[in-house]
Amino acid sequence: MVSNWKANPDSGKLAKRLLLETKKIAKRLKNTDFVVCPPTIFLESLKSSRGTMSLGAQDFFYEPSGAFTGETGFQALLSTGVKYAIVGHSERRALGEKDETINKKVKAALASGVKVILCVGEENREAGFSYLPIIKNELVEALAGVSKQNIKNLVIAYEPVWAIGKKATREATPKEIEEVVIFIKRVIGDLYDTKTIPPIKILYGGSVNPENASLIMDGSGVDGLLIGRASVSPKIYKSIIESLAS
Ligand code: PGA
Repeated sequence: MVSNWKANPDSGKLAKRLLLETKKIAKRLKNTDFVVCPPTIFLESLKSSRGTMSLGAQDFFYEPSGAFTGETGFQALLSTGVKYAIVGHSERRALGEKDETINKKVKAALASGVKVILCVGEENREAGFSYLPIIKNELVEALAGVSKQNIKNLVIAYEPVWAIGKKATREATPKEIEEVVIFIKRVIGDLYDTKTIPPIKILYGGSVNPENASLIMDGSGVDGLLIGRASVSPKIYKSIIESLAS
């Protein structure tokens, strides 16, 4: 279960409070890895309060350190103890992040032992729109030059852009998600000989809520959820986790 807090909350104090509430809620679901991805600025201060949960970065720079004003070099990121890093989120792509940069970030994170949560997903689902080639292209470009050895630390999140955030036009159905999950597995199987490595985990993200969470988990073949808005609202997050625990 991955929480993507995006640019929330507004202070370190609130971030700590949210982390502690998340930790309490996470105890309700056994045998599950919980990952919290706060804004980078809060990572260091949350390190000691995360308990058995892991911390993840929402973004970082692909160079270890150096003259890159405003960026967070991945060496500094590693010092915060992050286990995961989200790469290629559609909100970053919308801000101009290109496949080439995503590929560099994927390689930098995997080479330093950080698990990458690679986000892929199409912009729309209008009738006749060919969405699978878009997803394939995102996977191929992001993973160019990544070795089979390193994809063991890869998690893929299917995040259809049209189902994400406040601008979502509608929710994705478990059937729609399942089709893409099967497709992603096929693309990865074509790129790598996956028979000899543990299966790559696939998550779903986009308007996950207490009503659809267990339907998605039970009906689409995903291994977990990437939760945005609902992860910064403890009341809603708790209902999601409870719906999965029952
Ligand atoms: P949402 O965001 O749950 O608010 O739709 C998901 C995401 O962007 O990862």
